[in-house]
Amino acid sequence: MSILVTGGAGFIGSNFVLDWLAQSDELVINLDKLTYAGNIENLQSLNSDHRHVFVQGDIGDSALVANLLAQHPPRAIINFAAESHVDRSIHGPEDFVQTNVVGTFRLLDAARAYWSGLQSDAKQNFRFLHVSTDEVYGSLGKEDPAFTETHRYEPNSPYSASKAASDHLVRAYHHTYGLPVLTTNCSNNYGPYHFPEKLIPLMIVNALAGKPLPVYGDGQQIRDWLYVKDHCSAIRRVLDAGHVGEVYNIGGWNEKPNLDIVHTVCALLDELSPRVDGKSYREQITFVADRPGHDRRYAIDASKIQRELGWKPAETFETGIRKTVLWYLENQNWVTNVQSGTYREWLEKNYTGRAA
Ligand code: NAD
Ligand code: DAU
Repeated sequence: MSILVTGGAGFIGSNFVLDWLAQSDELVINLDKLTYAGNIENLQSLNSDHRHVFVQGDIGDSALVANLLAQHPPRAIINFAAESHVDRSIHGPEDFVQTNVVGTFRLLDAARAYWSGLQSDAKQNFRFLHVSTDEVYGSLGKEDPAFTETHRYEPNSPYSASKAASDHLVRAYHHTYGLPVLTTNCSNNYGPYHFPEKLIPLMIVNALAGKPLPVYGDGQQIRDWLYVKDHCSAIRRVLDAGHVGEVYNIGGWNEKPNLDIVHTVCALLDELSPRVDGKSYREQITFVADRPGHDRRYAIDASKIQRELGWKPAETFETGIRKTVLWYLENQNWVTNVQSGTYREWLEKNYTGRAA
């Protein structure tokens, strides 16, 4: 038995693969294009592990995917592969349409051809699990109830619009062709191997480097944070027991304004790796011009997955964020290696001339 994971060298995908193989001997075929966000170093501990087969390639390469499916017939496909950064989607939306829309479509089509040719039990048991985001639901007002699975789609960024399109294609492949799909929509993740273009790792990395901590707008936008390993356990649970064709929201019941997140990161660093001048890392906070079209609030109502599948997060924000800061402090080589020339170019493009 095997599973095909796409995007398994990225932040969540690599955590998923590592956790999977820590709990099971089932072979993982890992298809990843290794874009700027894909990092094979995340999977270093699996270098001589025969349960992990890494293939560099694009989910939109139909011939490659068809070959892989024929060569290592999987019982499930878990699709993490995506362009995932909202700010990059504002600067250059085309890659998002290519991977998140066209790529998902081609992957679905290859999966359909493969699934159609399976025999009885294998056909019945096959699953296509699509990993999506709460951003497809748009932005909430302060007093609005959290997103449920039936909340209307109102994506506001090129990223969330492309993810919304992919969710609709997944739904359509079930409705039209009967492909046994599952969709998960998760809130903001944080934890090990998070690329430092996203809020939490950027703040840790910049703080330690003595650089400004750029907070967009007034810093009062709210996100609902979930430790990445809890996201991975939720996906495993949905894969095991989710009802075909259903959507499951995944979240940590943990809404926080961005500025509170930055203050928490600073407080942990003050405790665990104090500045030499004895001052707080908070001194490095700099308010910068807001993200265009910035969604004000996300919040996930995760009661369906708890009620129907018995899943809930294992970490609180306090335990998860401490583990995360410690991981970055203990993995300074990883931090150095990810800060390539293209990473520095991205920082130039996104932050230069932005000071409020
Ligand atoms: P990431 O950007 O860290 O990783 C994406 C991975 O996909 C990278 O390894 C990249 O090389 C690979 N990839 C990109 N285009 C590809 C292509 N065409 N073919 C094959 N591989 C390709 O992203 P992430 O944060 O790990 O997110 C993974 C998935 O989870 C995405 O679908 C994202 O929308 C979703 N998600 C993320 C979060 C979050 O907070 N990070 C929350 C909810 C949902
Ligand atoms: O909600 C799930 C989504 O969470 C995922 O689908 C996306 O893939 C993931 O990137 C994340 O999107 P966000 O835009 O919420 O994450 P990001 O870390 O980029 O930003 C979090 C918040 O912090 C957001 O309100 C913008 C703000 N921010 C971000 C950066 C990078 C800052 O204030 N300053 C920054 O420098």
